[in-house]
Amino acid sequence: MQLTKLLLSLLFLLSVTVTISNAHNITRILAAHPDFSTFNHYLTLTHLATEINRRTTITVCAINNAGMSDLLAKHPTIYTIKNILSLHILLDYFGAKKLHQITNGTALAATMFQATGSAPGSSGFVNITDLKGGKVGFGAEDNGGNLDALFVKSIEEKPYNISVIQISKILSSDVAEAPAPGPSELNLTGIMSAHGCKQFADALLANTEASKTYQDNAEGGLTVFCPLDDAFKAFFPKYKNLSAADKTSFLEFLAVPVYQSLSMLKSNNGLMNTLATDGEKKFDFTVQNEGQEVTLKTKINTVKITGTLLDEQPLAIYTTDKVLMPKELFKAAPTPAPAPAPEEAADAPKAHKHKKAAPSPESDVSDAPADSPDDDASDQTADDNAGVKVTSARFHAMVFSLCLGFLLL
Ligand SMILES: *[C@@H]1O[C@H](CO)[C@@H](O)[C@H](O)[C@H]1NC(C)=O
Ligand SMILES: *[C@@H]1O[C@H](CO)[C@@H](O)[C@H](O)[C@H]1NC(C)=O
Ligand SMILES: *[C@@H]1O[C@H](CO)[C@@H](O)[C@H](O)[C@H]1NC(C)=O
Ligand SMILES: *[C@@H]1O[C@H](CO)[C@@H](O)[C@H](O)[C@H]1NC(C)=O
Ligand SMILES: *[C@@H]1O[C@H](CO)[C@@H](O)[C@H](O)[C@H]1NC(C)=O
Ligand SMILES: *[C@@H]1O[C@H](CO)[C@@H](O)[C@H](O)[C@H]1NC(C)=O
Repeated sequence: MQLTKLLLSLLFLLSVTVTISNAHNITRILAAHPDFSTFNHYLTLTHLATEINRRTTITVCAINNAGMSDLLAKHPTIYTIKNILSLHILLDYFGAKKLHQITNGTALAATMFQATGSAPGSSGFVNITDLKGGKVGFGAEDNGGNLDALFVKSIEEKPYNISVIQISKILSSDVAEAPAPGPSELNLTGIMSAHGCKQFADALLANTEASKTYQDNAEGGLTVFCPLDDAFKAFFPKYKNLSAADKTSFLEFLAVPVYQSLSMLKSNNGLMNTLATDGEKKFDFTVQNEGQEVTLKTKINTVKITGTLLDEQPLAIYTTDKVLMPKELFKAAPTPAPAPAPEEAADAPKAHKHKKAAPSPESDVSDAPADSPDDDASDQTADDNAGVKVTSARFHAMVFSLCLGFLLL
């Protein structure tokens, strides 16, 4: 329980902004130094590379291939590797010169591990101390004052954006090395509750069926678009008004059964099936870039992605500024169209609960009463594409986990 909580926070990379700075590229910097290829590889696998590229005033304490072998010999999970490596990313700029001229000879540097808000006490800090003979020692603060990792050399300095230095060995930390649970053990509603989506999380917790659908998909790939609290509060009367079955469909509509990083969303614009997609009930939406922003659209409304709560293959959770409304349950505000019978369409018992990226079927029967007839053709083409896209994303996700499996053997 405690561990789960800890991990949640570990994996929660501080509300990541949507803008990506291209000032530096750690992958490219380290690619010029083959002795750091393993470290580089794991920065990419754990998505820490993206985090590093996004930030400025940062120091990466790189470990050479021999040092990484020592770490990998213990067969840590990829989640544990991520925690350990995030302790090697200091949220301040330390070039070789500054390291040798630390005020008072000693300093505590906050790390990316600490910035997740997960490391208890001071365990996410790294102690940097100028030692005798011009040596600079590094040690995790929860390591009993042991400063046995030493500064070796500067690899690349771009003041004051990024400094990449080599240290002699992995910083050991009991907290970072603690086995980190996998995705199915993550408490998704806990993550949402703690970071501005408590209203939505509570609605999800109160709905056993939708909760189970989310949990069932957590292992294979899941991306959640949770409305921020103010938005969900304003929407709540409408939500409360829904029948029990429609509440479930609505909650399932706000997640898709595949992992989608923000850059995947940006490059894969188009129709997406959701956890609520079931047979003729499409419950889909369209992903579309608007400048730097990613928007989600239905015929009823458009919402913006405003932040990232979790981006950890195979799971992602994004916040949205408003509540995305499925056309199957809501009507566009001022259209005086003939009222369809919403209960009839949406309340029909579900034949099966295949939540695995089920592509919509050929028939468009459920749309017929609500939509203008000319919609069908365009919807159909879009659906076919979405089906293919979703399947291939899932396939990649599987390949990815297989690769991980091998790497960790
Ligand atoms: C960083 O560099 C690597 C290797 O050159 C490249 O594959 C990757 O796309 C780059 N990332 C960004 C964000 O430019
Ligand atoms: C350096 O040490 C002095 C005296 O102990 C203290 O007042 C000061 O805050 C220290 N400076 C830093 C940056 O830690
Ligand atoms: C860093 O560790 C050394 C050795 O344990 C200790 O003397 C020093 O006070 C620590 N520095 C800080 C800033 O806590
Ligand atoms: C630091 O980053 C900024 C953009 O964020 C860029 O304009 C500048 O050239 C970078 N400095 C160095 C030394 O790379
Ligand atoms: C997950 O978090 C929610 C709310 O934060 C909490 O009520 C629930 O007990 C947690 N579940 C588990 C299994 O830890
Ligand atoms: C709730 O449903 C009723 C009947 O369908 C409708 O008249 C009313 O406007 C709805 N209220 C809200 C807040 O959507």
